Amino acid sequence: MKVYLETYGCQMNEYDSELVRSILTSHKHEFTPSLDHAEVVLLNTCAIREHAHEKIFYLLDHLKGRKRRQKGLVVGVLGCMAQSLRKEIIERAPHVDIVAGPDSYKRLPMLIEATRHHTEQAFDFSLSEFETYSDIAPQRVPGVNAWIAIMRGCDNFCTFCVVPYTRGRERSRELANIVLEAERVASEGFRQITLLGQNVNSYRNDEYDFADLMQAVSEVSGIARVRFTSPHPKDFPRKLLHAMAANPKLCKHIHLPLQAGSDGVLERMKRTYTRKEFLALVAEIRALMPEVSLTTDLICGFCGETDADFEQTLEVVREVGFDSAFTFKYSERKNTMASRQFPDDVPEEVKQERLLRLAELQKEITHERNVAELGKVYEVLVETPSKKDGNQWLGRTDHFKPVVFSGNVQAGDLVKVRIEAHGANTLMGAMVRDYRRTLRVYQEACCV
Ligand code: 5AD
Ligand code: SF4
Repeated sequence: MKVYLETYGCQMNEYDSELVRSILTSHKHEFTPSLDHAEVVLLNTCAIREHAHEKIFYLLDHLKGRKRRQKGLVVGVLGCMAQSLRKEIIERAPHVDIVAGPDSYKRLPMLIEATRHHTEQAFDFSLSEFETYSDIAPQRVPGVNAWIAIMRGCDNFCTFCVVPYTRGRERSRELANIVLEAERVASEGFRQITLLGQNVNSYRNDEYDFADLMQAVSEVSGIARVRFTSPHPKDFPRKLLHAMAANPKLCKHIHLPLQAGSDGVLERMKRTYTRKEFLALVAEIRALMPEVSLTTDLICGFCGETDADFEQTLEVVREVGFDSAFTFKYSERKNTMASRQFPDDVPEEVKQERLLRLAELQKEITHERNVAELGKVYEVLVETPSKKDGNQWLGRTDHFKPVVFSGNVQAGDLVKVRIEAHGANTLMGAMVRDYRRTLRVYQEACCV
């Protein structure tokens, strides 16, 4: 059948969609980029905030009319929302044929078959303690970066977060199996690997930890850069910091979710670090890697957050000077500890105002940090033609800043670019033209 698959949410969902593509292709289904031509429509969903749900219910409503017009159209909801809101989906959108959680993708071919013959209900939300999809080769969109999930699930149970309920218990893949996947993506031409996990610091495979895994992946021939997301600030391994500082292939960028700056809020969130500990970790990271870029996630309006608590978040954000931040209003999630223990008592308009202040502050900081980049020369990994101007290229520095420049290059090249201007989130630069010639002269000199 012709399948249309749309993905919402985080990179882990993007990766899961690559697994789904692989699983369905091997069962003779075909993928189409056109919703209009599809015989099966699959939505791979996110459950992290209310907004994500509403978008999916709106789409499902739209697909109801389409199902009336197109007999036999199969509609499926996959992913985190399918796992956490299965009852609501079945009640609010009874025309949905398939509901399948993140550990059920191997059974999708069977679920599609079942809906065609109407032999059984095509719902599957069993969570597994073992499923890591290690035996599936994801069908990736060609490009420069390949995602590799190194683990699944999360055992942290931060009180606001639904992920432990939608993705189940934490389990790591074998290091050797991940390195095999890295070798395969390198042979397919990918230049960068981003290792994914809900909390990569707790990766463990026998005697190997996450630092060992980063080192092993960086040694794969053809891979120029290795990134990861996300670590938890509570147990950041010093061994990893030393490995990052010493190994030029390990990118100097850490996405370090702070969430909030007040100890009271951090405690209610069950983040298990204090503001002081977070700041000490940042100082340690910067002492080892002065050029590192730090990005973060911030939640405002969590249960019981006072004006004074929120001011402390602003203070920490100012003190650290993150390169960029994702900012969110707290959105109560069903089943989470916060929903059971604390009232969602910050009024919506206060949440909104705090969100704006946070975004405003981060905008100023990002501006200052962008200004500080002017005149610097960076090695940039070329990714794609720029969306705004097809004559220009978009690439990224080692520390994850997007850079637009022009030049006779191709995706996957590493080039030197001098930063000459900046926008709100993007740097603009000019290629240092002598770089390649200098490199060639140097290489020739070495050969002699
Ligand atoms: N409300 C708002 N933001 C949330 N996040 C996770 N759960 C919630 C929630 N219930 C944010 C956190 C996390 C990011 C992926 O999403 O900041 O780090
Ligand atoms: Fe959610 Fe916390 Fe696990 Fe991150 S570490 S996925 S915020 S429970």
